Amino acid sequence: MKDVYILGIESSCDETSVSIVKNGTEEIATVIASQIDIHKDFGGVVPEIASRQHVKNVTMVLEECMEKANMTMEDIDAIAITYGPGLIGSLLIGLETAKTLSFVHNKPLIPVHHIAGHIYANSLVKEMKFPLLAVVVSGGHTELIEMKKHYDFNKLGGTLDDAIGECYDKVARVIGLEYPGGPKIDKLAKEGKDTYKLPVPLQDDSYNFSFSGLKSAVINLAHNEEQRGNKIRKADLATSFQKVAVESIIIKVRKAIIDKNIKNMILAGGVAANKGLREAMTNLAKELNVDLTIPDMKYCTDNATMIAAAGYYAYLDGRRADMNLNSVSQCELK
Ligand code: KG4
Ligand code: ZN
Repeated sequence: MKDVYILGIESSCDETSVSIVKNGTEEIATVIASQIDIHKDFGGVVPEIASRQHVKNVTMVLEECMEKANMTMEDIDAIAITYGPGLIGSLLIGLETAKTLSFVHNKPLIPVHHIAGHIYANSLVKEMKFPLLAVVVSGGHTELIEMKKHYDFNKLGGTLDDAIGECYDKVARVIGLEYPGGPKIDKLAKEGKDTYKLPVPLQDDSYNFSFSGLKSAVINLAHNEEQRGNKIRKADLATSFQKVAVESIIIKVRKAIIDKNIKNMILAGGVAANKGLREAMTNLAKELNVDLTIPDMKYCTDNATMIAAAGYYAYLDGRRADMNLNSVSQCELK
Protein backbone atom coordinates (compact mmCIF):
# COMPACT_ATOMS: atom_id res chain seq x y z
CA MET A 1 0.00 0.00 0.00
CA LYS A 2 1.13 3.55 -0.74
CA ASP A 3 2.43 5.47 2.26
CA VAL A 4 -0.08 7.90 3.78
CA TYR A 5 1.12 11.21 5.19
CA ILE A 6 -1.32 12.96 7.52
CA LEU A 7 -0.87 16.55 8.63
CA GLY A 8 -2.41 17.00 12.10
CA ILE A 9 -3.40 20.25 13.80
CA GLU A 10 -4.15 20.59 17.53
CA SER A 11 -5.26 23.79 19.29
CA SER A 12 -7.88 22.66 21.83
CA CYS A 13 -6.29 24.28 24.90
CA ASP A 14 -2.99 26.14 25.33
CA GLU A 15 -0.74 24.33 22.86
CA THR A 16 -0.60 25.25 19.16
CA SER A 17 0.78 22.22 17.40
CA VAL A 18 1.24 20.89 13.87
CA SER A 19 2.68 17.50 12.98
CA ILE A 20 3.17 15.18 10.02
CA VAL A 21 2.88 11.43 10.66
CA LYS A 22 3.48 8.60 8.18
CA ASN A 23 1.05 5.64 8.21
CA GLY A 24 -0.22 6.48 11.71
CA THR A 25 2.96 5.23 13.36
CA GLU A 26 5.99 7.24 12.27
CA GLU A 27 6.52 10.85 13.31
CA ILE A 28 8.08 12.88 10.50
CA ALA A 29 8.05 16.30 12.17
CA THR A 30 6.23 18.05 15.02
CA VAL A 31 6.20 21.62 16.24
CA ILE A 32 4.52 22.67 19.50
CA ALA A 33 4.16 26.26 20.71
CA SER A 34 3.25 26.13 24.38
CA GLN A 35 1.56 29.03 26.16
CA ILE A 36 2.29 27.82 29.71
CA ASP A 37 4.56 30.79 30.50
CA ILE A 38 1.78 33.22 29.59
CA HIS A 39 -1.02 31.49 31.54
CA LYS A 40 0.92 30.60 34.68
CA ASP A 41 0.71 34.20 35.94
CA PHE A 42 -3.08 33.71 36.06
CA GLY A 43 -2.97 30.28 37.77
CA GLY A 44 -4.67 28.57 34.82
CA VAL A 45 -5.55 28.91 31.13
CA VAL A 46 -7.36 32.16 30.24
CA PRO A 47 -9.51 31.22 27.21
CA GLU A 48 -9.49 34.63 25.50
CA ILE A 49 -5.70 34.93 25.78
CA ALA A 50 -5.30 31.34 24.55
CA SER A 51 -7.33 32.04 21.37
CA ARG A 52 -5.30 35.14 20.60
CA GLN A 53 -2.04 33.26 21.06
CA HIS A 54 -3.23 30.52 18.70
CA VAL A 55 -3.93 33.18 16.05
CA LYS A 56 -0.41 34.55 16.54
CA ASN A 57 1.26 31.13 16.46
CA VAL A 58 -0.56 28.91 14.01
CA THR A 59 0.96 30.09 10.71
CA MET A 60 4.49 30.05 12.11
CA VAL A 61 4.03 26.61 13.64
CA LEU A 62 2.66 25.26 10.34
CA GLU A 63 5.51 26.73 8.28
CA GLU A 64 8.13 25.49 10.74
CA CYS A 65 6.68 21.97 10.66
CA MET A 66 6.68 21.83 6.82
CA GLU A 67 10.28 23.07 6.82
CA LYS A 68 11.35 20.56 9.46
CA ALA A 69 9.74 17.74 7.47
CA ASN A 70 11.21 19.10 4.22
CA MET A 71 7.81 18.58 2.61
CA THR A 72 5.20 20.67 0.79
CA MET A 73 1.40 20.36 0.87
CA GLU A 74 1.72 18.29 -2.32
CA ASP A 75 3.21 15.48 -0.20
CA ILE A 76 0.30 15.47 2.25
CA ASP A 77 -2.61 13.03 1.80
CA ALA A 78 -5.09 14.50 4.31
CA ILE A 79 -5.51 17.10 7.07
CA ALA A 80 -6.55 15.87 10.53
CA ILE A 81 -8.02 18.39 12.93
CA THR A 82 -9.13 18.33 16.59
CA TYR A 83 -12.75 19.53 16.37
CA GLY A 84 -13.46 19.04 20.12
CA PRO A 85 -13.69 18.85 23.05
CA GLY A 86 -11.81 21.88 24.31
CA LEU A 87 -11.93 25.66 24.56
CA ILE A 88 -14.18 26.80 21.75
CA GLY A 89 -12.18 29.89 20.75
CA SER A 90 -8.94 27.89 20.72
CA LEU A 91 -10.45 25.00 18.75
CA LEU A 92 -11.81 27.38 16.10
CA ILE A 93 -8.35 28.71 15.20
CA GLY A 94 -7.04 25.23 14.40
CA LEU A 95 -10.26 24.29 12.64
CA GLU A 96 -10.26 27.33 10.35
CA THR A 97 -6.59 26.69 9.52
CA ALA A 98 -7.33 23.05 8.67
CA LYS A 99 -10.39 23.95 6.58
CA THR A 100 -8.42 26.58 4.65
CA LEU A 101 -5.59 24.11 3.90
CA SER A 102 -8.09 21.44 2.90
CA PHE A 103 -9.96 23.82 0.58
CA VAL A 104 -6.95 25.51 -1.02
CA HIS A 105 -4.94 22.32 -1.54
CA ASN A 106 -7.91 20.05 -2.21
CA LYS A 107 -7.06 17.54 0.55
CA PRO A 108 -9.55 15.48 2.57
CA LEU A 109 -10.43 16.92 5.98
CA ILE A 110 -10.47 14.35 8.82
CA PRO A 111 -12.30 15.22 12.06
CA VAL A 112 -10.49 13.92 15.18
CA HIS A 113 -11.88 13.81 18.73
CA HIS A 114 -9.19 15.06 21.13
CA ILE A 115 -9.38 11.88 23.26
CA ALA A 116 -9.01 9.67 20.16
CA GLY A 117 -5.76 11.60 19.70
CA HIS A 118 -4.58 10.80 23.23
CA ILE A 119 -5.44 7.12 22.69
CA TYR A 120 -3.61 6.93 19.35
CA ALA A 121 -0.45 8.45 20.88
CA ASN A 122 0.13 4.78 21.68
CA SER A 123 0.31 3.78 18.01
CA LEU A 124 3.53 5.82 17.85
CA VAL A 125 5.03 3.38 20.39
CA LYS A 126 3.92 0.08 18.86
CA GLU A 127 1.07 -1.43 16.88
CA MET A 128 -2.14 -1.47 18.91
CA LYS A 129 -3.51 -4.96 19.59
CA PHE A 130 -7.23 -5.58 20.09
CA PRO A 131 -9.36 -5.99 22.08
CA LEU A 132 -7.80 -3.48 24.44
CA LEU A 133 -8.60 -1.36 27.46
CA ALA A 134 -7.74 2.35 27.14
CA VAL A 135 -7.19 4.12 30.45
CA VAL A 136 -7.73 7.81 29.68
CA VAL A 137 -6.43 10.25 32.29
CA SER A 138 -6.22 13.92 31.33
CA GLY A 139 -7.08 17.44 32.42
CA GLY A 140 -10.66 17.04 31.20
CA HIS A 141 -11.25 13.26 31.12
CA THR A 142 -10.94 10.16 33.28
CA GLU A 143 -12.40 7.21 31.41
CA LEU A 144 -12.09 3.48 30.84
CA ILE A 145 -12.72 2.64 27.20
CA GLU A 146 -12.86 -0.80 25.63
CA MET A 147 -11.82 -1.06 21.96
CA LYS A 148 -12.52 -4.20 19.93
CA LYS A 149 -10.93 -2.74 16.79
CA HIS A 150 -9.58 0.57 15.44
CA TYR A 151 -11.94 3.49 15.92
CA ASP A 152 -14.41 1.48 17.97
CA PHE A 153 -14.89 3.09 21.40
CA ASN A 154 -17.04 1.55 24.13
CA LYS A 155 -17.02 3.62 27.31
CA LEU A 156 -17.13 1.39 30.40
CA GLY A 157 -17.10 4.26 32.86
CA GLY A 158 -15.91 7.78 33.54
CA THR A 159 -15.65 10.43 36.18
CA LEU A 160 -18.84 11.55 37.89
CA ASP A 161 -17.36 14.98 38.65
CA ASP A 162 -13.79 16.29 38.27
CA ALA A 163 -11.17 14.75 35.99
CA ILE A 164 -7.98 13.50 37.61
CA GLY A 165 -5.78 16.19 35.96
CA GLU A 166 -8.18 18.90 37.09
CA CYS A 167 -7.93 17.51 40.63
CA TYR A 168 -4.11 17.53 40.47
CA ASP A 169 -4.14 21.16 39.29
CA LYS A 170 -6.56 22.28 42.02
CA VAL A 171 -4.67 20.49 44.79
CA ALA A 172 -1.43 22.03 43.49
CA ARG A 173 -2.98 25.47 43.71
CA VAL A 174 -4.07 24.85 47.32
CA ILE A 175 -0.52 24.00 48.30
CA GLY A 176 0.90 26.96 46.42
CA LEU A 177 2.41 25.31 43.32
CA GLU A 178 2.39 27.05 39.94
CA TYR A 179 0.14 26.07 37.01
CA PRO A 180 0.16 23.42 35.63
CA GLY A 181 0.42 21.78 39.02
CA GLY A 182 0.18 18.11 37.99
CA PRO A 183 3.86 17.67 37.07
CA LYS A 184 4.95 19.67 40.14
CA ILE A 185 2.97 17.44 42.54
CA ASP A 186 4.43 14.41 40.77
CA LYS A 187 7.96 15.74 41.39
CA LEU A 188 7.28 16.69 45.03
CA ALA A 189 5.63 13.33 45.70
CA LYS A 190 9.02 11.67 45.33
CA GLU A 191 10.46 13.75 48.16
CA GLY A 192 7.77 13.30 50.82
CA LYS A 193 6.27 10.61 53.06
CA ASP A 194 2.71 9.28 53.05
CA THR A 195 1.70 10.84 56.38
CA TYR A 196 -1.64 12.54 55.65
CA LYS A 197 -4.80 10.40 55.72
CA LEU A 198 -6.98 10.97 52.66
CA PRO A 199 -10.04 8.96 51.52
CA VAL A 200 -9.85 6.68 48.45
CA PRO A 201 -12.90 7.83 46.47
CA LEU A 202 -15.77 5.75 45.02
CA GLN A 203 -15.00 2.16 45.89
CA ASP A 204 -18.17 0.78 44.30
CA ASP A 205 -18.98 -1.86 41.72
CA SER A 206 -18.94 0.48 38.71
CA TYR A 207 -16.13 1.54 36.39
CA ASN A 208 -16.70 5.16 37.36
CA PHE A 209 -14.43 7.59 39.17
CA SER A 210 -14.92 10.59 41.44
CA PHE A 211 -12.29 13.16 42.32
CA SER A 212 -14.20 16.06 43.85
CA GLY A 213 -14.31 14.42 47.31
CA LEU A 214 -10.55 13.92 47.29
CA LYS A 215 -10.04 17.52 46.19
CA SER A 216 -12.33 18.77 49.01
CA ALA A 217 -10.52 16.57 51.54
CA VAL A 218 -7.20 18.21 50.62
CA ILE A 219 -8.71 21.71 50.73
CA ASN A 220 -10.25 21.02 54.17
CA LEU A 221 -7.05 19.52 55.48
CA ALA A 222 -5.01 22.55 54.35
CA HIS A 223 -7.61 24.88 55.85
CA ASN A 224 -7.69 23.07 59.22
CA GLU A 225 -3.91 22.98 59.49
CA GLU A 226 -3.79 26.70 58.74
CA GLN A 227 -6.39 27.44 61.45
CA ARG A 228 -4.35 25.46 63.95
CA GLY A 229 -1.33 27.51 62.98
CA ASN A 230 0.44 24.46 61.53
CA LYS A 231 2.50 24.63 58.35
CA ILE A 232 1.49 22.17 55.61
CA ARG A 233 4.27 19.70 54.85
CA LYS A 234 3.94 20.16 51.09
CA ALA A 235 6.02 17.19 50.01
CA ASP A 236 4.20 14.85 52.43
CA LEU A 237 0.82 16.11 51.21
CA ALA A 238 1.90 15.62 47.58
CA THR A 239 3.00 12.04 48.39
CA SER A 240 -0.21 11.24 50.29
CA PHE A 241 -2.43 12.78 47.58
CA GLN A 242 -0.63 11.05 44.72
CA LYS A 243 -0.87 7.69 46.49
CA VAL A 244 -4.67 7.97 46.80
CA ALA A 245 -5.20 9.46 43.31
CA VAL A 246 -3.20 6.65 41.68
CA GLU A 247 -4.83 4.00 43.85
CA SER A 248 -8.32 5.14 42.89
CA ILE A 249 -7.43 4.65 39.20
CA ILE A 250 -5.73 1.31 39.79
CA ILE A 251 -8.70 -0.15 41.73
CA LYS A 252 -11.07 0.39 38.80
CA VAL A 253 -8.54 -0.65 36.16
CA ARG A 254 -7.90 -3.89 38.08
CA LYS A 255 -11.64 -4.57 38.19
CA ALA A 256 -12.05 -3.92 34.43
CA ILE A 257 -9.08 -6.20 33.57
CA ILE A 258 -10.51 -9.07 35.61
CA ASP A 259 -14.19 -8.62 34.62
CA LYS A 260 -13.48 -8.16 30.90
CA ASN A 261 -10.54 -10.56 30.67
CA ILE A 262 -8.31 -7.82 29.25
CA LYS A 263 -5.00 -8.84 27.65
CA ASN A 264 -3.95 -5.51 26.08
CA MET A 265 -4.01 -2.12 27.73
CA ILE A 266 -2.92 1.42 26.90
CA LEU A 267 -2.54 4.55 29.02
CA ALA A 268 -3.56 7.90 27.50
CA GLY A 269 -3.80 11.63 28.33
CA GLY A 270 -1.71 14.23 30.11
CA VAL A 271 -1.72 12.41 33.45
CA ALA A 272 -0.13 9.41 31.67
CA ALA A 273 3.05 11.45 32.22
CA ASN A 274 2.69 10.88 35.97
CA LYS A 275 5.59 8.78 37.28
CA GLY A 276 3.54 7.26 40.11
CA LEU A 277 0.75 6.19 37.76
CA ARG A 278 3.15 4.84 35.12
CA GLU A 279 4.85 2.72 37.77
CA ALA A 280 1.57 1.48 39.32
CA MET A 281 0.13 0.61 35.89
CA THR A 282 3.33 -1.22 34.94
CA ASN A 283 3.20 -3.25 38.17
CA LEU A 284 -0.50 -4.04 37.74
CA ALA A 285 0.06 -5.16 34.14
CA LYS A 286 2.90 -7.45 35.25
CA GLU A 287 0.83 -8.92 38.06
CA LEU A 288 -2.19 -9.64 35.83
CA ASN A 289 -0.14 -10.55 32.76
CA VAL A 290 -1.47 -7.75 30.56
CA ASP A 291 0.47 -6.20 27.68
CA LEU A 292 0.67 -2.48 28.58
CA THR A 293 1.66 0.38 26.28
CA ILE A 294 2.45 3.84 27.64
CA PRO A 295 3.21 6.79 25.33
CA ASP A 296 6.61 8.50 25.47
CA MET A 297 6.50 11.49 27.83
CA LYS A 298 6.47 13.98 24.93
CA TYR A 299 3.28 12.41 23.48
CA CYS A 300 1.35 12.40 26.81
CA THR A 301 0.35 16.06 27.00
CA ASP A 302 -1.32 17.86 24.09
CA ASN A 303 0.43 17.61 20.73
CA ALA A 304 -0.52 17.30 17.05
CA THR A 305 1.48 14.08 16.53
CA MET A 306 -1.25 12.10 18.29
CA ILE A 307 -3.93 13.91 16.23
CA ALA A 308 -2.17 13.00 12.97
CA ALA A 309 -1.79 9.37 14.19
CA ALA A 310 -5.50 9.15 15.08
CA GLY A 311 -6.27 10.93 11.81
CA TYR A 312 -4.63 8.09 9.87
CA TYR A 313 -6.93 5.46 11.41
CA ALA A 314 -9.96 7.78 10.98
CA TYR A 315 -8.88 8.18 7.34
CA LEU A 316 -8.75 4.39 6.87
CA ASP A 317 -12.17 4.19 8.60
CA GLY A 318 -13.53 6.46 5.84
CA ARG A 319 -14.20 9.41 8.13
CA ARG A 320 -14.36 12.72 6.27
CA ALA A 321 -15.63 16.18 7.07
CA ASP A 322 -16.61 19.03 4.77
CA MET A 323 -16.56 22.80 5.11
CA ASN A 324 -19.56 22.58 7.49
CA LEU A 325 -17.41 21.01 10.22
CA ASN A 326 -17.66 23.06 13.39
CA SER A 327 -15.76 23.05 16.69
CA VAL A 328 -17.57 21.79 19.78
CA SER A 329 -16.54 22.36 23.37
CA GLN A 330 -18.04 19.06 24.58
CA CYS A 331 -18.63 15.90 22.56
CA GLU A 332 -18.74 12.14 23.09
CA LEU A 333 -15.96 9.96 21.71
CA LYS A 334 -17.37 7.87 18.87
O1 KG4 B 1 -4.12 15.73 28.21
P1 KG4 B 1 -3.80 17.08 28.65
O2 KG4 B 1 -2.61 17.77 28.05
O3 KG4 B 1 -5.04 18.02 28.50
C1 KG4 B 1 -6.34 17.55 28.33
O4 KG4 B 1 -6.63 16.97 27.28
O5 KG4 B 1 -7.13 17.77 29.29
O6 KG4 B 1 -3.60 16.98 30.20
C2 KG4 B 1 -3.24 18.06 30.97
C3 KG4 B 1 -3.33 17.63 32.40
C4 KG4 B 1 -3.15 18.77 33.38
O7 KG4 B 1 -4.16 18.69 34.35
C5 KG4 B 1 -1.77 18.48 33.98
O8 KG4 B 1 -1.61 18.97 35.28
C6 KG4 B 1 -1.75 16.97 33.94
O9 KG4 B 1 -2.32 16.64 32.70
N1 KG4 B 1 -0.40 16.42 34.04
C7 KG4 B 1 0.02 15.70 35.09
C8 KG4 B 1 1.38 15.38 34.84
N2 KG4 B 1 1.73 15.94 33.64
C9 KG4 B 1 0.61 16.57 33.17
N3 KG4 B 1 -0.62 15.28 36.20
C10 KG4 B 1 0.07 14.54 37.09
N4 KG4 B 1 1.37 14.22 36.93
C11 KG4 B 1 2.06 14.60 35.83
N5 KG4 B 1 3.34 14.27 35.68
ZN1 ZN C 1 -5.36 16.62 26.02
